Amino acid sequence: MDTKHPPIPRWPGVVERYRPLINLTPGVEPVTLLEGNTPLIPAPRLAARLGGDFELYLKYEGLNPTGSFKDRGMTVAITQAVAEGAQAVICASTGNTAASAAAYAARAGLRCIVIVPEGKIAKGKLAGALAYGAEVVNISGNFDEGLRLVREAAQRLPVTLVNSINPYRLEGQKTAAFEVVDALGDAPDWLCLPVGNAGNITAYWMGFSQYCAAGQAQRTPRLLGVQAEGAAPLVRGEVVPHPETVATAIRIGNPARWNQAMQALDESDGHILAVSDEEIIEAWRMLAATEGVFVEPASAAGIAGLRKRIARREVDLRGQRVVCVMTGHGLKDPEFVLRAQAEPVTLPPVFEALAQLFENPLETQITNR
Ligand SMILES: Cc1ncc(COP(=O)(O)O)c(C=O)c1O
Repeated sequence: MDTKHPPIPRWPGVVERYRPLINLTPGVEPVTLLEGNTPLIPAPRLAARLGGDFELYLKYEGLNPTGSFKDRGMTVAITQAVAEGAQAVICASTGNTAASAAAYAARAGLRCIVIVPEGKIAKGKLAGALAYGAEVVNISGNFDEGLRLVREAAQRLPVTLVNSINPYRLEGQKTAAFEVVDALGDAPDWLCLPVGNAGNITAYWMGFSQYCAAGQAQRTPRLLGVQAEGAAPLVRGEVVPHPETVATAIRIGNPARWNQAMQALDESDGHILAVSDEEIIEAWRMLAATEGVFVEPASAAGIAGLRKRIARREVDLRGQRVVCVMTGHGLKDPEFVLRAQAEPVTLPPVFEALAQLFENPLETQITNR
């Protein structure tokens, strides 16, 4: 009997995997950390808790190399920057773009400057950007002001902008839509995701549309975009000058991809809505406690929005397939967890104490639901 396991197929990263579909200078060597190929996790228990007779999947983008979906776009943006002879890159960030830009710039040997709103980025993201060797600059302003600053810098200094207004970022991010179709055999009925600067929703729509046009999918999904109530310019139809939310990743008041996002929502017959911070936190708890999927707060917004629409009977999902995008890993924002959950108890290291606890379980996400 042959007991040898078949080899695990090599995953080459998103550029090499989907190269014919990515608009990139031909022949360039990708700067890659083998991003992509993230799991599409079935979530039947969560679907049942949401009250729906539907199939729910979680696209766990927090498992990318730097812990967020940004790596898909960054591999393409940094590859192209190198091809064009860049020596330095710059971005404004609510945190994840900073960590991702820093990692890929390190891999390419480029200088990387990141501009972040002081005190408003999660510690795990700051730690990443610093660890990868970026020059991290706090500003006494919000993301929107940071974006204005780096746009000007890219015009006046020899530095390449790698925010999602850089078209190569979207070229990479759209590969998540290809992977969803490759995993399911076709597009789902709905794709739900959080919306901040609106690059990701734009990229998903590009990806689904392109795959459909190329004959790789039979249809495109409806998009459900979800913003935080305190940072919901697309829902309100006006710029939010002072955005606020616990979901710092989407604390954005003037999205750069505003028009493209509205067009994607329109073309997909989709919907955009806002959820409160409490609804985000509740969805975040449900994801972790019901399915074992730990995400950062912004990533729970898609589930919160879906839950709200089901509760209001605004959608009939019976028999449908729904994919929610988990954009960033829970370890990105440990401070949020420590605020949202009870602290651990301390016991003496003796059996009797543990036995007593066994009889009287601690309040946890499992016991209090
Ligand atoms: C974890 C996470 N989720 C969602 C978003 C929103 O993506 P976009 O700004 O492309 O709308 C971001 C953006 O920083 C993010 O970091």
